This record gives sequence, structure tokens and C-alpha cells, in this order.
Amino acid sequence: MKTYNIAVIGGDGTGPEVVREGLKAIRAAADRGNFKMEFVDFDFGGERYLRTKEILPDSAVDEMKKFDAIYLGAIGHPDVKPGILEKGILLRLRFELDQYINLRPVKLYENVYTPIKEKGPEDIDYVVVRENTGDVYSGIGGASMVGTPHEVAMQTMVYNRHQVERCLRWAFEYTRKRNKKNTLALCGKTNVLTDVYGLWERVFHEIGEKDYPQIKRDYYHVDATCMWMIKNPEWFDVIVTGNMFGDIITDLAAITQGGMGIAAGGNINPEGVSMFEPIGGSAPRYTGKNVINPMSAIGAAQMMLEIIGEEAAAEMIEAGMKKTLLKMTSMDAGKMGMSTSEVGDDVAGNIAAL
Ligand code: IPM
Ligand code: MN
Repeated sequence: MKTYNIAVIGGDGTGPEVVREGLKAIRAAADRGNFKMEFVDFDFGGERYLRTKEILPDSAVDEMKKFDAIYLGAIGHPDVKPGILEKGILLRLRFELDQYINLRPVKLYENVYTPIKEKGPEDIDYVVVRENTGDVYSGIGGASMVGTPHEVAMQTMVYNRHQVERCLRWAFEYTRKRNKKNTLALCGKTNVLTDVYGLWERVFHEIGEKDYPQIKRDYYHVDATCMWMIKNPEWFDVIVTGNMFGDIITDLAAITQGGMGIAAGGNINPEGVSMFEPIGGSAPRYTGKNVINPMSAIGAAQMMLEIIGEEAAAEMIEAGMKKTLLKMTSMDAGKMGMSTSEVGDDVAGNIAAL
């Protein structure tokens, strides 16, 4: 029987609680399939940092490379200065494991509230492919004369052709495999960031024309993308964009599909080890109260199974989620009409009964 080894990083705040529920769904799906899932826990996060002053042990990245995938809860602790854990754990793993795709599905399920009036599940069903290694996240830049009236600060938008091309190729392939509207939209800012998004746009049309003539190509400036995501979300199928724009538009997208309680993301290295996470954050206010929505983590588990190649099991998780969502009164913490663990139990029960 095929066995997958998964590294589990519950992380901070409500991370471990939502991961626990996701694991229930994975176990239930594995029971129905003919594969096994083995889990190894890692305690990286704010608590460990405060206790030991170690953010991520040097051996951690190499150790992660031995797993089939990583399942992550949340990183971010109220007693740790912003940036330390995010850069030292989350971004470090994304970069060093070269997880160059950040896949963020935007799908409104039945019975889930969207703040967009008159739009429903048939209108909101697209995917954002966010490049995950470059852009202003690259760490190129610095500051001098800090704290003086002459302080200088810069963090530069950096992309090379290799990063752009591999991301675009993956996005074209994904669009083809998804086989819905067969439309890939590049989200950029070619009217101002003429160099960086000029590069993206040239490569986009070059490989699109040559290798993916069956995929329709659209282009939107990032500001306009935000507008259309609200006004006409049904236009979108797959959106591909750089790291910073992708970060921003996927929070906007998340709220249209029910919010942080349900939005999931995958940090994918198609040739290596990928990492799956709810995109909501550690929600310290709700920690330990059994009120946080674990659907985002369950969605991340679904994506993990899909990407490691257990597509049927991934579909079972989605089917289980859909049934539970019909019973929930809200996606927001404390208003779900169910507790965190009840949601997980219900999804797992649905999977077992499929
Ligand atoms: C995300 C988050 C991270 C990012 C932060 C926590 C570093 O906002 O996953 O979208 O900016 O990528
Ligand atoms: Mn973000």
C-alpha cells in the first residue's frame, strides 16, 4: 500500500486546532482509498521561538525535504515582533524549498455567504496562481540613515526570466488541466511597472502563442483586477500574477468566497516538497476556544491530496466539506452553529459515509 509521509507544523494560535480537524478529514479519506498517511509533528512557531530563541533549526529545511508534503497551521505570535516568524519560518520554507507556485482557489460553496450581492456559487469559481519566490519578497534592498530625517528605504521588485517562465508555464498547464473556461488572465501593472510586468507580459504571450494556443489569454492591470473580481467574478478562470499582487488580491478574493475561515492555499514545488496551509493566520483571540473555522485547513488538506496525486481522495474531502457547509450558519469564528471539532467530525463522518 502506498504510504505518504507528511510533516505537520501546527504552528501558532489556532493553527494546531484547525490542523487537527484537517487530519481527521485526511484520515477518513485515506481509509476510503488504498493509501496510508503517516504524520510527523514539528513544533516550529512562536512558542518555541520565545522558549529557545531559535526560529527554525538549520537542519529543518533539509529534514522537510524528506517528506512527501508539509501540512501547516499558522505562523504569527502576538508576543513576537511582526516579520520575525513570518520571514524566518513561512517565507524561509517557501523560498528554500523553492515552492514557486502559490495556488489559491476562490470557490464559493452552496450556503456560504458572499458579500457580493447577486453573485452565487456559479459566479465565483476561479483560481489564483501567485508566484511565490520573487518580487518585493526577494529581500533585495535595505535601509540606511534609519531614524534620521534622511532615512532611505528600499525593497525592490525583482524577477528573472526563469522565475516568470516556470510560473507561467505551470499556470498554462493548470488552466488546461482544469479545463473550465480555458482562460488564463495575467494580472500585472504594465502601465507603470513597465520592466517587471513588461517581462511577464512578453513571456506570457510568447509561450501562450507557441505552446498553449488553445488557452485564451487575458490581461488586466492589478487595480482593475480588484474591481472586476467584485463586479464580474464570473469572468475569471485562472489568474496568474506576481508575489505581491497575488498576496493582496487573494485576501480580496478570500472574502468573496466566505472569508479566512474557508480560504486555503498551497505552496507548490512541482518537482519537490509542497506545503499546504489555511491562509487565515493564527487568530490568537480565538486560540483554544474551539470556535475557529477549520474549513480552510480542511480545504488545504484536500489540495494536498490532489497535488500529491490522490485525486479521488481529494474529491471525497470536498464532497464531505460541501455537506457540512450546508449545516453551518456562518464561516466566522464563533458563529458557525458548530464548534471547531464538530466541523471536523462532521466532515470526517461525511467522508466515511460516502
Ligand atoms: C500569505 C501571508 C504571508 C505573505 C505573510 C504572513 C508573510 O500574508 O500567505 O498570504 O505575505 O505571503
Ligand atoms: Mn497574505
